[in-house]
Amino acid sequence: MENIDVLRKCTILQSETLQEYILETSAYPREHEQLKEIRETTIQKYGFRSIMQVPVDEGLFLSMLLKIINAKKALELGVFTGYSLLTTALALPDDGKVTAIDPDREAYETGLPLIRKAGVEHKINFINSNALSVLDEMLDNGGEHGMEYFDFAFVDADKPNYINYHKRLMKIVKIGGLIAYDNTLWNGSVAVDEEDAHEFLKDSRRAIMDFNSYLASDPHIEISQISIGDGVTLCRRIR
Ligand SMILES: C[S@@+](CC[C@H](N)C(=O)[O-])C[C@H]1O[C@@H](n2cnc3c(N)ncnc32)[C@H](O)[C@@H]1O
Repeated sequence: MENIDVLRKCTILQSETLQEYILETSAYPREHEQLKEIRETTIQKYGFRSIMQVPVDEGLFLSMLLKIINAKKALELGVFTGYSLLTTALALPDDGKVTAIDPDREAYETGLPLIRKAGVEHKINFINSNALSVLDEMLDNGGEHGMEYFDFAFVDADKPNYINYHKRLMKIVKIGGLIAYDNTLWNGSVAVDEEDAHEFLKDSRRAIMDFNSYLASDPHIEISQISIGDGVTLCRRIR
């Protein structure tokens, strides 16, 4: 419970009532029925850990992005119970494909019946593995999963590996493609002194800060820091 209080105080939007206003006014009314069911099923099964799901307003933002860029091939690192994955699958055209990687099959299977109910399972290629090894296989080109060029990637897995993911994604996402990195404001802890950051947030805080600095000076991308959810950094590969 203490952790929940910390996260509430550390939301990007400092006003809880404003966050509620956004959710109640524009996000919840637009949430797909099966996304709502995944969100609720995850809360019931995982309790506090359900905060790992992307928030509803962020899901709508990702969906809009995918449609604006006409994404056909997407990649997701960090699936959990499938909230962002179902968001992506719903936003892709019928012949689109999202390759989704997570070592936790049980969590994926928690949301799978709802993905099936939404009628988009055929757009999903779930790989039950660590993301880094799959990306390396893709780069080897002859690997089991083959080399692919993606229009869009969503990264929401282990934070200490974000720089390693980024280096690989610079070869796997096509030039002109987009990468969205989640949690890049880490509940606001990136902007407070180490000793003032809550214990719960300290572990990955430094990794996220190093990652944000790395992106800021990477000439291969254009970036935009979006203050939605827990912070999303959008990168457009330009070389
Ligand atoms: C924040 S959750 C993802 C939430 C998901 N995007 C959603 O909207 O519900 C992080 C996920 O990353 C997965 N993960 C942890 N280490 C990983 C790794 N090395 N490769 C891929 N996924 C990993 C965890 O199993 C967990 O399901």
